[in-house]
Amino acid sequence: MVQDRYETTLRDGTPVLIRAVVPQDKPLLMDGFGRLSEASRFRRFMSGVTQLSEEQLRYLTEIDYTNHFAWAAVRADRPAEGMGVARYVRLPDEPDVAEAAVTVVDEYQGKGLGTLLMGLLAVAARAAGIRKFRAYALVENEPMVTLLEELGARAHVDEPGVVRMDVPLDPEILPDSPAGKVLKAMAKRVLTPVVKPFPGTPPYGVPRVQVSDAPPSPGD
Ligand SMILES: CC(C)(COP(=O)(O)OP(=O)(O)OC[C@H]1O[C@@H](n2cnc3c(N)ncnc32)[C@H](O)[C@@H]1OP(=O)(O)O)[C@@H](O)C(=O)NCCC(=O)NCCS
Repeated sequence: MVQDRYETTLRDGTPVLIRAVVPQDKPLLMDGFGRLSEASRFRRFMSGVTQLSEEQLRYLTEIDYTNHFAWAAVRADRPAEGMGVARYVRLPDEPDVAEAAVTVVDEYQGKGLGTLLMGLLAVAARAAGIRKFRAYALVENEPMVTLLEELGARAHVDEPGVVRMDVPLDPEILPDSPAGKVLKAMAKRVLTPVVKPFPGTPPYGVPRVQVSDAPPSPGD
């Protein structure tokens, strides 16, 4: 079955629905941001941002799904409760590279959601012709650095305290780490059908993603 949303359970059984972000998600994002700890907000935005402005909310939700794409993870049993977001933004001067970022609300961290969101983000990115993710993380951000290293990222120190990590989105060269295995499994099942996006697919022309089978858990 072809679908542009994905429903599964996290390691602890929490039901999650992952779907493309839409313009109506401004309250969802605001609420999710409000439930992030100060440390998570600092790690994501690398500054002491305390709330999202109208302009930021527009930028984060009114996206074109090709050069700027974002998945939202919500509780499948409480769809108004955001759990996390993953987005990529294509670099204008390197069109096969996109900057990627992922955020999981603190109470849902460490349950595999970040890995899952990153995997689905890679699927959407490949469908849009992106071959590499670039992510910036604080050197002390062990969860993000580990997650990206497990996907074969190479780290370069960009400026003091910040690492730039490049992740090639090639299923053939993904490492045999738990996160690499999840992505490889997703790639095998979903990449081929979405390499050519279906034009004009609702909502908002989002490339459809075939994710009918749950990926194996990282231990598989
Ligand atoms: C980075 C982040 C998205 C990871 O999300 P998550 O759902 O917790 O990630 P996962 O559960 O999929 O874990 C991925 C891997 O990260 C590592 N990891 C997760 N939590 C960790 C922790 N507290 N300490 C060290 N490593 C950790 C593990 O290796 C883990 O793999 P494993 O579960 O197979 O051991 C999340 O911590 C977050 O939102 N942080 C705040 C925002 C941020 O830093 N964003 C990144 C900037 S772009």
